[in-house]
Amino acid sequence: MSARQAGLSRRGFLGLLGGTALAATGCGEVAGELLTGSAPMPAPFTVPLPIPQVARPVSPGLYEVTQRVTRVEILPGLRTEVWGYDGTFPGPTFELRRGEPATVRVRNELPVPTSTHLHGGVTPPDSDGYPTDLVIPAGGHSGHSAHMTHPGEVHHEGTKDYRYPVGQRAATLWYHDHRMDYTAPSVWQGLAGFALVRDEEEDALSLPAGERELPLLICDRSFAEDGSFRYPRTHEGHDSDYMEGVEGDVILVNGAPWPVHEVTATRYRLRLLNASNARRLRLRLAPGGRFTQIGSDSGLLAAPVRHDTLPMAPGERYDVVVDFSAYPVGSTVTLVNTLADGPAGKVMRFVVARRAKDDSAVPTTLSRPPERPVPVTTRSFDFRRTGQSWTINGRVYRPGDLLARPRLGTAEVWRLTSDFHHPVHLHLAHFLVLARNGRPPAATDAGWKDTVDVRPYEVVDVLARFEGYRGRYMLHCHNLEHEDMAMMADFEVV
Ligand code: C2O
Ligand code: CU
Ligand code: CU
Repeated sequence: MSARQAGLSRRGFLGLLGGTALAATGCGEVAGELLTGSAPMPAPFTVPLPIPQVARPVSPGLYEVTQRVTRVEILPGLRTEVWGYDGTFPGPTFELRRGEPATVRVRNELPVPTSTHLHGGVTPPDSDGYPTDLVIPAGGHSGHSAHMTHPGEVHHEGTKDYRYPVGQRAATLWYHDHRMDYTAPSVWQGLAGFALVRDEEEDALSLPAGERELPLLICDRSFAEDGSFRYPRTHEGHDSDYMEGVEGDVILVNGAPWPVHEVTATRYRLRLLNASNARRLRLRLAPGGRFTQIGSDSGLLAAPVRHDTLPMAPGERYDVVVDFSAYPVGSTVTLVNTLADGPAGKVMRFVVARRAKDDSAVPTTLSRPPERPVPVTTRSFDFRRTGQSWTINGRVYRPGDLLARPRLGTAEVWRLTSDFHHPVHLHLAHFLVLARNGRPPAATDAGWKDTVDVRPYEVVDVLARFEGYRGRYMLHCHNLEHEDMAMMADFEVV
């Protein structure tokens, strides 16, 4: 198939989506369409919380990870085929340190091409996981190497070295697949994991650490009766009934359904990530309690902020401390999602098992984040359904089509507007949320971020810093179905 034919068939398919009733969910809190599973669900809070393995370098600064198909037990007694980095879901956690560059050699043994993106990373463009910069399956697992399906596609046969300079502040990053047109099904199948950056500024604090620091990758999935992941696909691409996004009816934390975890009556650091394709969450502690937010997407806050609830759009992270000494020993503390009733309203449970010594602290001054820069210009980006596509400024994504050319070392106000729920993400550039509908942002918008939840008919102003590297990067909606249905754009840092 020629590039032109492939492009036309995708747009042709989008042209058939006329009947989708967007208005039905457009004004509510729900961003996607529920895909109901048929596998028997485990009783909530019975499966132990897994902690992803920490990736070990094969030599200083060099990691090797193989993407492969495995069958794992997610629902008790059933096997689920996952596509995993090193065959695990979530993938291994990369422990990175500021100032220590890392190379990750990704080998692809999956049946499909991949592109790995370090979300939140300040990464040179050729290692940023551009959607058409593909690692083709090793050993001829598929016929994909025979032809290009998009203009300008780059093919790496079997492996690619991703180079991460890690010049950035300590932060909770994550990595996931970013392949053109197929990010949503590939991430759904398991291609996501954590990458934690640490630095001296953070070391100097006595935040909860070791077993009291938990990375929590939260996502929803649906399962067929045999335990396999359900995902709506047609042979052409995406199922038009799920144009708004796919939501599952099982909540997984670190790949386990509604897990339970025993804690001491001490402080814990929870690195929360909403890795769902489309599901927005609003987290709360039951029977009550507060999250002390210490960090946002892009690193530690200047000072902690306390919240009763945490709204989390896909792609967003919150670094929080929860003090379990506030609860009686023997009691349980449940993390709930107040945006859903039924199964998706539960997330996980902590059991406060016993008292223990606690040397941790949450100081009133956490860090010195970069100061607010002075913008040199303002640009507008409108996220909207145009005809039968998801578009930015009315344009269907085409690789190489630039929407902006910001200058390296400058900052700009980007005004984001939308017709629906669109979690807007910028590669490379971190930003501060300046305003929502001309008013001050929410307390939960604090700090430097890379993803912001833009709600229906909202105007969100962000102040983005273009630091690090020149070259081609992207902005896009992080509802992965919207992303695959063309809600992406390129910008070039010049
Ligand atoms: Cu997490 Cu371009 O995405
Ligand atoms: Cu990203
Ligand atoms: Cu969107």
